[in-house]
Amino acid sequence: AKVHFHKFVIEAKPVKRLCRTHSTITVNGQFPGPTLEVRNGDTLVIKAINKAQYNISLHWHGVKQLRNPWADGPEYVTQCPIQPGRSYTYRYTLENQEGTMWWHAHSRWLRATVYGALIVRPEKGSPYPFPMPKREFPVMLGQWWDRNPLDVQKQALFTGGAPNVSDAYTINGQPGDLYRCSNKETMKFPVRAGETILLRIINSALNQELYFAVANHKLTVVEADASYTKPFTTSVVMVGPGQTTNVLLKADQSPGQYYMAARAYESGQNQAFDNTTTTAILEYKSASSRPPLLPQLPAFNDTNTASAFASQVKSLKSKVNVPTKIDDNLFFTVGLGLINCTNPNSPRCQGPNGTRLAASINNVSFVFPRRNSLMQAYIQGQPGVFTTDFPPTPPVKFDYTGNVSRGLWQPTRGTKLLKLKFGARVQIVLQDTSIVTAEEHPMHLHGYSFYVVGMGTGNFNPSTDPAKFNLIDPPYRNTIGTPPGGWAAIRFVADNPGIWLLHCHIDSHLTWGLATALLVENGVGLLQSVQYAPLDLPRC
Ligand code: C2O
Repeated sequence: AKVHFHKFVIEAKPVKRLCRTHSTITVNGQFPGPTLEVRNGDTLVIKAINKAQYNISLHWHGVKQLRNPWADGPEYVTQCPIQPGRSYTYRYTLENQEGTMWWHAHSRWLRATVYGALIVRPEKGSPYPFPMPKREFPVMLGQWWDRNPLDVQKQALFTGGAPNVSDAYTINGQPGDLYRCSNKETMKFPVRAGETILLRIINSALNQELYFAVANHKLTVVEADASYTKPFTTSVVMVGPGQTTNVLLKADQSPGQYYMAARAYESGQNQAFDNTTTTAILEYKSASSRPPLLPQLPAFNDTNTASAFASQVKSLKSKVNVPTKIDDNLFFTVGLGLINCTNPNSPRCQGPNGTRLAASINNVSFVFPRRNSLMQAYIQGQPGVFTTDFPPTPPVKFDYTGNVSRGLWQPTRGTKLLKLKFGARVQIVLQDTSIVTAEEHPMHLHGYSFYVVGMGTGNFNPSTDPAKFNLIDPPYRNTIGTPPGGWAAIRFVADNPGIWLLHCHIDSHLTWGLATALLVENGVGLLQSVQYAPLDLPRC
């Protein structure tokens, strides 16, 4: 196994998109940032040097960080942010993990431009479970604003209204031919007729599930969230923010140019969203000069296609090691809500009837601490930063398919953690509340991957639904879309001590509080069970 040293200089650089140049936070001057390529078992040592004018931290999405929460990155959770002019070195080892992961800023909305691919290949000499093509490409789907992303966030947070929709979607940072001033830089992916290539699709968009397709070409899914899947062939892929999907594409069409394209899958009703389409070009060698064809993409509100796609994803193994007995059976409602304003005329209160939009799990709208990170406060025994009274089930059960009284729309705010015993076998049923709108919530758990044993529409039924769970070959993921107006059930063993964020990967929902943190410890305290904190760990 190798040790890879990298320097990530985080710094504002001029980036031109959609006819205008913006001062954009980049890594090493690149947008998207550098691709990291390593092997299973390797160690990464990344010195993040903050030359930007904002606090920032970096997260390695999908890396389990076993016993090593210090390298996980979410600001105010496992570390204080890196202040301007300072640096912090992330050091971690890939332990039994391979596939497509990615890294991104985990500070306010800076991940809009601060992200890159993290590709983990099998150990030397150990094969892929499919014929691995010679040619492969990361396909990072993103969302671009003609404004500073922090101003866009402020609008979402402080006005309590819906965030501004983006000005473009992007593929590897480029909007593509359908947007103004963009066609010169449209991404091109070269292929030879007859060859098969691997696309590593990563949804790094802040706030949008996306459909992706390639004109005239079928895609064979072989991996999702850095876990191999039973191969299946499809003409369209749906990726939620945070998720990754690897597909094989056979260049079996007549030599030419073909668009690959992505656009919104938007399950929320009456939600404003960016309805534009980003494109890149799959270009055969010796292509004819015919203009490229656009692929067919499902309608933005086509939830059936999205759900059908998600339920086709199954682990490659014929039988996986999913916990069959459960120690902690948790039920989490996820959804939006409204907070009453004392002064409804304040600019922060642009939600319906002078309210502020909020989001919650079990009716607790998560508040990130400011004085310290959760990990540091815990280790130092600093009181008053968080409590551990997060409710394992919602305070009141109700019908989650809409039409509930406004009284139930109001979350309480707090920094509440849920304690889990080290080694506990955990099941969490995530139930969309359908409050404000039924909507898909891509839920991401730090520090773990989990088995998705079931998904369904409507209210989860604890007496009949578990009988239908897939305990044979459920997918092993780090981000699962809770179906709009439905539920998803996940299982994992709490075998990684630390404090781990669980949150909706739609940043507007995260900003409104759709998060909690799991505190996993073995009874003797975290200090004994996790690695020592690095000496350069930032302080608040
Ligand atoms: Cu990819 Cu908490 O994030």
